[in-house]
Amino acid sequence: MSVAEAVRIDHCDVLDTLGADVRAGLARPLKELPPKYFYDERGSELFDRITTLPEYYPSRCERAILNRHAPDIVADSRAEELVELGSGTASKTRALLYAMAGAGSLRRYVPFDVDESVVKACAVELVELYPGLEVHGVVGDFGRDLAHVPDGRRRLFAFLGGTIGNLYPEERARFLRRLRTAMAPEDRLVIGTDLVKDRAMLEAAYNDSEGVTAEFNRNVLRVVNEGLGADFDPESFEHVAFFDEANSWIEMRLRANGAQLVHIDGMNLDVRFADGEEIRTEISAKFTRDAVRAELGQAGLRLDDFLTDDGGLFGLAVASPAEPFRSRAQS
Ligand code: AVJ
Repeated sequence: MSVAEAVRIDHCDVLDTLGADVRAGLARPLKELPPKYFYDERGSELFDRITTLPEYYPSRCERAILNRHAPDIVADSRAEELVELGSGTASKTRALLYAMAGAGSLRRYVPFDVDESVVKACAVELVELYPGLEVHGVVGDFGRDLAHVPDGRRRLFAFLGGTIGNLYPEERARFLRRLRTAMAPEDRLVIGTDLVKDRAMLEAAYNDSEGVTAEFNRNVLRVVNEGLGADFDPESFEHVAFFDEANSWIEMRLRANGAQLVHIDGMNLDVRFADGEEIRTEISAKFTRDAVRAELGQAGLRLDDFLTDDGGLFGLAVASPAEPFRSRAQS
């Protein structure tokens, strides 16, 4: 099969909500921008650099878990297809694909990400690495476009990196119910969850000494500038990240250094920032095993296994559709 025959990519128009999201988010008492807009090509590159930082333990821990357990996960699920939500550059996915190829069951990979550049790049790379592999990429927002995941048999859904923590609790509940509804009885789910730990370690992971996370955080302003013709001066916003223990999440913000007047040309909108005013740009929830079990259970998913790294810093939940399940009010 040639690359062109083996690869198909569907597009869900992820930027069509940028204007509405920015307008709604910046009208709130605490201004807010959704974290999915970090990820243009530059944002995906910055995130990749984050994953190599000494302070950012989640990627290393999750990789260790996957390297150790991928063969068992694949054998137990007898998966023929890997559907990866928020696939990024798919670097940790390799362990799962490798195990599937080793088991002789690998047929198709479905990378799903908001950033088109990473979906394309990993598709081309993987069909070359695994002759016969079909890649059906989806450029979309997993919070909204799950219906674009193609039907399949014996699918392993993977949602890695702790990305589920970017959703607010109500959004998580809704997302998990939708995902459960999309799953057939033989499908399986692996979901990476960062775990509650010592505040200093959590906060260091989001305040790295090289300032890469700060650049990543400011990138959302560049994306808004580019997408909506805004004139944010990213350098006039300072990176802030702290652990909110009551909500059990890391919160990232951008703090205006001096009063700012920002014009958003594409929306004919002026937005004022007082000196020191903050924009919330991301939450990243931290879980316990019991919280993961409970949230999955609420969505009709059964926790089959909860794998952690040796230090117990990060958790990988393995789950199946629970029977029976009545799909409740979907929205
Ligand atoms: C990829 C969303 C899981 O929340 O830790 C890294 C993104 N933000 N550093 C996370 C991120 C700041 C990351 N996720």
